[in-house]
Amino acid sequence: MKLEDYVTSIPDFPEEGIIFRDITTILENAEGLQLAVDSMQDFIADTEFDAIVGAESRGFIFGVPLAYNLKKPFISARKKGKLPREIVSKEYDLEYGTAAIELHKDSIKKGQKVVVVDDLIATGGTIRAIVDLIEELGGEVVKIIFLMELKGLNGREKLKGYDIQAAISYEDK
Ligand code: PRP
Ligand code: MG
Repeated sequence: MKLEDYVTSIPDFPEEGIIFRDITTILENAEGLQLAVDSMQDFIADTEFDAIVGAESRGFIFGVPLAYNLKKPFISARKKGKLPREIVSKEYDLEYGTAAIELHKDSIKKGQKVVVVDDLIATGGTIRAIVDLIEELGGEVVKIIFLMELKGLNGREKLKGYDIQAAISYEDK
């Protein structure tokens, strides 16, 4: 089976007209999980970098095995109010309202080359905010990788000039 075959598509969730692309069925299958991590790892096999930044929470699922396999540190980009030390914080837009994502100030060193990992790029708001924080701390984003991309939401528009790859892509809006 291909990676795509492990995704479950649920029509009209969470609202009418939306097809929910559920990745839990990838994770619940040992071969699916291996295919997912392996295909993301292929994207960065030849990339020179110092650390992986993963987006809470589903970005952690893929970011940690990649960091472990490639013997790199893993840095947590967490939702508002979760990190205990000095932070930098950035708001981003949700469909209704806003959210904020945060990094520990000392988690990124100046000049560090960083790969950013998340499960999904939809509007690109989450990852744009994380990229801004990494750069604010002096890091350099050398690659952004996703398990899945919803192309119809034009997330790449928010991330022009960055090297972006996704293992599965849908035309969904
Ligand atoms: C989802 C998904 C991505 C983000 C993509 O996370 O895991 O992180 O949305 O959307 P965007 O490109 O429009 O920003 P969510 O905030 O739902 O939380 P979770 O990872 O904790 O499930
Ligand atoms: Mg997420």
